[in-house]
Amino acid sequence: MLWGFKHLDIKTASITLKNLTEREIGDIKVPPDLTVKNLPDSMKTPHIIVKNITMAYGDLVIQQNLDFTVNKGDIFIIMGGSGCGKSTLLRHLVGLQKPAKGDIIYNVLSKNSDLEQNRQKEINFWNTSAEEQRLLMKNFGILYQSGALWSSMTLAENIALPLEAYTDLSSSQIMELASLKLALVGLAGFEGYYPSEISGGMRKRAGLARAMALDPDFLFFDEPSAGLDPVSARLLDDLILELRQSFGSTIVVVTHELASMFAIGTNSVFLDPVTKTMIAHGDPKYLLESSKDERVINFLTRGEGKQIV
Ligand SMILES: Nc1ncnc2c1ncn2[C@@H]1O[C@H](COP(=O)(O)OP(=O)(O)OP(=O)(O)O)[C@@H](O)[C@H]1O
Ligand SMILES: [Mg+2]
Repeated sequence: MLWGFKHLDIKTASITLKNLTEREIGDIKVPPDLTVKNLPDSMKTPHIIVKNITMAYGDLVIQQNLDFTVNKGDIFIIMGGSGCGKSTLLRHLVGLQKPAKGDIIYNVLSKNSDLEQNRQKEINFWNTSAEEQRLLMKNFGILYQSGALWSSMTLAENIALPLEAYTDLSSSQIMELASLKLALVGLAGFEGYYPSEISGGMRKRAGLARAMALDPDFLFFDEPSAGLDPVSARLLDDLILELRQSFGSTIVVVTHELASMFAIGTNSVFLDPVTKTMIAHGDPKYLLESSKDERVINFLTRGEGKQIV
């Protein structure tokens, strides 16, 4: 149950949308009992495979030799100091920016129309058709660093946008779903409010509701708890855990918040701005216990060393 909405089952929203729309890609959910932390490696399914990418703006290389896998059901943390390239990496993962070098591959289920069966399929994003890219991106839910709700639209209208763009639902069905998604993040009754009329924490939750509008298999959040008080940040973490537990979504989160990383992260990559590459990869709690790299330890203990933990 989310945010005290005891009458509402989070799965109901998913099922409702699934009954109303036909989804062409990635139409599978990991059962909740398989999404527990520290799943044995043998049971993990790769969902996003980042193969030796270089990210650059023109001639300016931001990061290079990034090589890691995000597994299905992971809450994958992108961490590192300010300006190291976290948001840039997120933009690469959601198909908005092309790597200067290397590949980003998504392992999804696609419907085989002949056999009426789903089959596992690897899509190399920058080496596939525009139509396949579009279908894949339909499966991405994104919360940008700025929050980026449209200020001239109500919360319900903001959430309706992706539903209008990608589904053939009627406007009354869309509004019903928008209300359902708002209720899931504790904003029932706020459909008619404008972003300026609600608090920062509520705007973040509305952003989350919009990211979830199409029931995506992939959720990407850039600094979801930035600017929130510790209690709201904690509630947002709980909500992210609930989303993963109930839907089995794969969630990629950029965050500076140590409490969040340890509370929700199941895997991570650490980007270093000096060497311009990843210097650690794994469960943040494991990195804290086992890393010998001073840069990683300093980051994970806010420069205090291991004794404070
Ligand atoms: N559109 C752009 N053109 C050129 N350089 C850019 C552009 N966007 C970002 N950069 C540069 O790329 C580097 C990484 O930026 P990015 O926003 O990805 O960092 P970040 O890790 O998300 O930082 P923060 O923690 O402050 O959000 C920075 O040096 C930034 O100045
Ligand atoms: Mg950023």
